Amino acid sequence: MQIARTIPELRELLGGAHRAAFVPTMGNLHAGHLSLVEKARTLGDVSVASIFVNRLQFLPHEDFDTYPRTWDSDCEKLQSVGCDVLFAPDEKALYPQPQTCKVHPNPLIADTLEGEFRPGFFIGVCTVVMKLFACVQPRFAVFGKKDYQQLMVIRHMVEQFALPIEVVGAETERAEDGLALSSRNGYLDKQERIQASQLSATLRSVAQAVKDGERDFAAIEARATTALAARGWKPDYVALRRRSDLQRPASGDALVVLAAARLGNTRLIDNLEIGE
Ligand code: PAJ
Repeated sequence: MQIARTIPELRELLGGAHRAAFVPTMGNLHAGHLSLVEKARTLGDVSVASIFVNRLQFLPHEDFDTYPRTWDSDCEKLQSVGCDVLFAPDEKALYPQPQTCKVHPNPLIADTLEGEFRPGFFIGVCTVVMKLFACVQPRFAVFGKKDYQQLMVIRHMVEQFALPIEVVGAETERAEDGLALSSRNGYLDKQERIQASQLSATLRSVAQAVKDGERDFAAIEARATTALAARGWKPDYVALRRRSDLQRPASGDALVVLAAARLGNTRLIDNLEIGE
């Protein structure tokens, strides 16, 4: 695996590649990230991953400073799945001047759910992803469904700017008890880690209610939120939405249920597509 620390280094490394498949990450890699790299390897003629903890997408009170940075094991893991190129700029290399030019995603998709509870989050995400796209110039970009709204926001951005990139969504990798793998799971203590599987279990019970024919979505959401709260979670939302643009569903729409909730000091998100 070759490592580029600056944009010129990356351009030099990728000089001849025409079909790069790209996986942006913030590091602290786990099997979820690695599954994206494995997918990327099947798509392009060169696989590129990036590691960059993007200050722009953290609110002032959030965990930018403490976000886990695990360089050596990240490199080993990427190497073990055959990643060709790792782009790992520091802040100076990616944002040599303050990044004042920013991408504002479609508020309809980006200002709800995560965007409501983390204002500006998707501006930070879109801005860094656009910049990383400009650096890597990939033909394919792989994003996890774990961050479902992020995938939808990026898809829409790529479409609106007519970027010549195919955005590929990859399934969520889970622990045996159902907990979606996440870098932030490392913040959970032993007891919280046991409890954490309740989030995916709640999503499954919502999906089951819909499959059983219940149509009062507000009641299903309220029941799920109450159940989480009763077990000591602080839910931000449990929301049944249509998959394509995360708006409130009309009958016949393909559905996804999305949730965000805090367990102790750790905020977890997860989602589940319902049906086909
Ligand atoms: P990060 O949280 O590191 O995630 C990088 C990619 O891995 C995202 O596409 C995310 O959806 C995917 N991912 C995370 N957990 C996963 C799991 N359990 N199964 C499958 N895929 C999973 O998302 C970001 O970084 C940042 O916002 C970024 C896009 C890099 C921009 O800074």
